[in-house]
Amino acid sequence: MKKLAVFASGNGSNFQAIAEEIQKGKIDAKVALVLTDKEGAGVIKRAEAFDLPVFCILPKQFETKVQYEQAILEKLKEYHVDYIILAGYMRLIGETLLGAFEKRIVNIHPSLLPSFPGKDAIGQAYRAGVKVTGVTVHFVDAGMDTGPIIDQEPIRVDEGETEETLAKKIHKVEHVLYPKVIQQLVSK
Ligand code: GAR
Repeated sequence: MKKLAVFASGNGSNFQAIAEEIQKGKIDAKVALVLTDKEGAGVIKRAEAFDLPVFCILPKQFETKVQYEQAILEKLKEYHVDYIILAGYMRLIGETLLGAFEKRIVNIHPSLLPSFPGKDAIGQAYRAGVKVTGVTVHFVDAGMDTGPIIDQEPIRVDEGETEETLAKKIHKVEHVLYPKVIQQLVSK
């Protein structure tokens, strides 16, 4: 059984969707640990509710990014992690983790990449007035929401759509697409 580490900086609804699909037996993997870089992130309570180990490792506790990622890497080794699943982890992955987990780090992003990378992708797309946006899952490289695309799902921006209704639609799609892609990945 493959072991996942889920990295999240915020709410953790994607973590929740993944954990639920694992419980239902829809993903042949287990979450070995949850990692957050933000004190009080919503994902912490969600992980505790699933009785999963959750670690809050703050970058400011370290002098360099290399040291920060080395501390993370130790935890990943301790828990025999196979894949890193970024679920709203709002930080660039550095050389230490990229080198140790080549082709084994994936990310979900709320736009049809390469359009609207970075923060507030839903707002960026909404303000640009696009008629179609969507969700992307991709392998992670050193760039911001770059790296080979694994799968995408388009979403129409309907007449009278608000940013809030669009965000709801996008999250709903994320919660289906990400577990599906993760299952494909771990069953290879
Ligand atoms: C998700 O919409 C995810 O696609 C996005 O953060 C949100 C996290 O929500 N990620 C990025 O923007 C990455 N650049 P969640 O904490 O409820 O899972």
